[in-house]
Amino acid sequence: MSSWALRCAAELEISNHIKSYGGPMPLHELARSIPIPPEKDMMLDSFMELLVHQRVFAKCEAGYLLTPTSELMLSEGANMGAFVYFVTDTFPEQLFFLGKWFKDTGKGSAFQLAHDGKPIWDVLKEKPELGTLLNKGMESQSKVCVRYLVASYPEIFDGINNLVDVGGGTGTTVKIIADSFPGLQCTVFDLPHVVENALNNGYFNVVGGDMFVKIPPADAILLKTVLHDWLDEDCVRILKRCKEAIASTKNNGKVIVIDLVLDAETHDSIETETKLLSNFSMMSLVGGKERNKKEWHDLILNAGFSDYKIYPARMPLYSVIELYP
Ligand SMILES: C[S@@+](CC[C@H](N)C(=O)[O-])C[C@H]1O[C@@H](n2cnc3c(N)ncnc32)[C@H](O)[C@@H]1O
Repeated sequence: MSSWALRCAAELEISNHIKSYGGPMPLHELARSIPIPPEKDMMLDSFMELLVHQRVFAKCEAGYLLTPTSELMLSEGANMGAFVYFVTDTFPEQLFFLGKWFKDTGKGSAFQLAHDGKPIWDVLKEKPELGTLLNKGMESQSKVCVRYLVASYPEIFDGINNLVDVGGGTGTTVKIIADSFPGLQCTVFDLPHVVENALNNGYFNVVGGDMFVKIPPADAILLKTVLHDWLDEDCVRILKRCKEAIASTKNNGKVIVIDLVLDAETHDSIETETKLLSNFSMMSLVGGKERNKKEWHDLILNAGFSDYKIYPARMPLYSVIELYP
């Protein structure tokens, strides 16, 4: 119900209405602005009480206010409502299969059980409306995460002339990086039908392909929330292609991974719960997993890298891991 309440708040664009009002917004103003019929005002009141309790919105005597959470949902900002749509629209079907998936002896995810054995990436290709939901959701998630990344870890981009964002979706991440480091030549690399929708504004190159086959050469390869989609065997294959891609660089090539580290320092219990829920959804729904420090260590060395560094946590939730050949 929490996810669906958030989705309803996104659908009613409550954040945008409060922002446009320009100050604490009384209930009746919010109700007329959405608009909802007057007989539903009482229900909106109860609904807002729930969202205030969950700290999505705040309330003072004069009305409702935005919080850092609801600011993320502003359509002119990160538009995290798009991520909420992605989660609520694509996950329910396979949630019915969780028990069956646990008992199943096959290798497929609950998503595959719900989709005639097809992996998520094939279904997203067949159903472009679901693919668009994922891309829009990841675009909004990237707007939040990558802004933290460039502000908190600028040294990661020192000394590299070009970077390929592998599994980079429609290019939101490389756009933010290219904006922040104008001398850095960036490329977004993803499946051909995904990069077709890349919002290229001339800042970056766009290459379609398969990361299991060949990755364009670069000083640095970025993998943001890609490896958690895959189990170790597939990750080793992807990382070997990455190692080949940085082999020809004259600079010291590296692979930059942005993903969860389950046992990294956390800021609060909500962050811990989010990591655990993400791990459960990656395992059961996508067919991948989140990893702890030991699992990252084993994976990186098995893929043939000689050393790596997990940066101390400077942004919420995600960690930065650099892999050296
Ligand atoms: C969870 S999304 C992450 C997107 C992006 N890195 C971000 O953080 O917003 C995983 C991405 O991997 C891409 N992908 C899946 N299989 C791939 C393959 N074989 N080759 C290249 N990209 C692939 C998907 O299309 C998708 O864009």
